[in-house]
Amino acid sequence: MLRRLHAEQPESFEFTPANLEWADGQITKYPQGREQSAVIPLLWRAQEQEGWLTKPAIEYVGDKLGMPYIRVLEVATFYFMFQLQPVGSVAHIQVCGTLSCMICGAEDLIAVCKDKIAPNAHELSADGKFSWEEVECLGACSNAPMAQIGKDYFEDLTAENFGKLIDDMAAGQVPLPGPQNGRYAAEPLSGLTSLTDHEAGRPAYNASAQLAHDLGDTIKRIDGSEVPILTPWVVKGGKASAAKKTPPKPAPVQKSAVQQAAAAKKAAKAVDAPKAAAAPKSAAAPKADAAVSEGKKPRTMSAPRKAGADDLKMLKGVGPKLEQTLNALGFYHFDQVAKWTADEIAWVDDNLKFKGRIERDGWVEQAKILAQGGQTEFSKRAKY
Ligand code: FES
Repeated sequence: MLRRLHAEQPESFEFTPANLEWADGQITKYPQGREQSAVIPLLWRAQEQEGWLTKPAIEYVGDKLGMPYIRVLEVATFYFMFQLQPVGSVAHIQVCGTLSCMICGAEDLIAVCKDKIAPNAHELSADGKFSWEEVECLGACSNAPMAQIGKDYFEDLTAENFGKLIDDMAAGQVPLPGPQNGRYAAEPLSGLTSLTDHEAGRPAYNASAQLAHDLGDTIKRIDGSEVPILTPWVVKGGKASAAKKTPPKPAPVQKSAVQQAAAAKKAAKAVDAPKAAAAPKSAAAPKADAAVSEGKKPRTMSAPRKAGADDLKMLKGVGPKLEQTLNALGFYHFDQVAKWTADEIAWVDDNLKFKGRIERDGWVEQAKILAQGGQTEFSKRAKY
């Protein structure tokens, strides 16, 4: 397969401050003079930031590691894990089409992708939320057929449950990864015949599904709420113009997109609840400033208290990205979360685009304990 850079490219790329700090940390893992060894992790983080790997991002990584651009380009075009064209703002779905999956129904899954997303691989759906491709064996053959979405595996798929997964994601829900037919992991379909005593007392989900559930970040959402959108044909709100579906014809990218996004995010943080509606709309601002939200907006804060923000990641279901979004909405402390009423939960749910998560994971109950200096089962584990 010919892998080339996309014809349409943004003008610039730079890591967000958090990603820059992370990248600098990665580089220190390698001996002096061998910094180039960090090329894959840095390219991967650049892709995570924007959803796909742009030419400016490749050059940025080359500059950062002191590598000729062609060397970085060789890496980016060699590995299929790097997306060289825009992907869906909610999810890019990689359907395994190798032997086991093909025998067990991968073609049905690809038909679902063609029907629900776009007729061709690497083509954005009309709303810009999804894209798909067929990939080679992902090493989950015993749970065939399967697909990778973001960082997670969704296994034991059928056309029906796969179609529902896509519908759920389109509706803003975050599906649970792992086997989708009730299997715990990769045990025989008929159930365990040995080591059955291991079933008692195990976590609700297998290790990777449990981790994804606990981190609360199982699909990639490149919608501009956490990082700037540098994909010019994906407009504010993460939607692509249907008219620009195939091939996407971009509007010119502003050179200052990163700075604009950062400024808008800062503004969203600095503005208190009543003022939020008046904040300038930006691709980088969370949905808090949208005209209509469900429920009632809770009291928010323009900044954390002097002692610093609480580590909201101690709430089960809140990962690093969700914590950033909560902070951007004006929530920094456990006692804020502890006071949310049902109406306010609905508002936060709506703005986080994680319908049902707050109640499902019991954030308010956890926050009440943590606000009083106590510990939950999750916070005890999360600290170590
Ligand atoms: S054949 Fe699909 S995961 Fe191996």
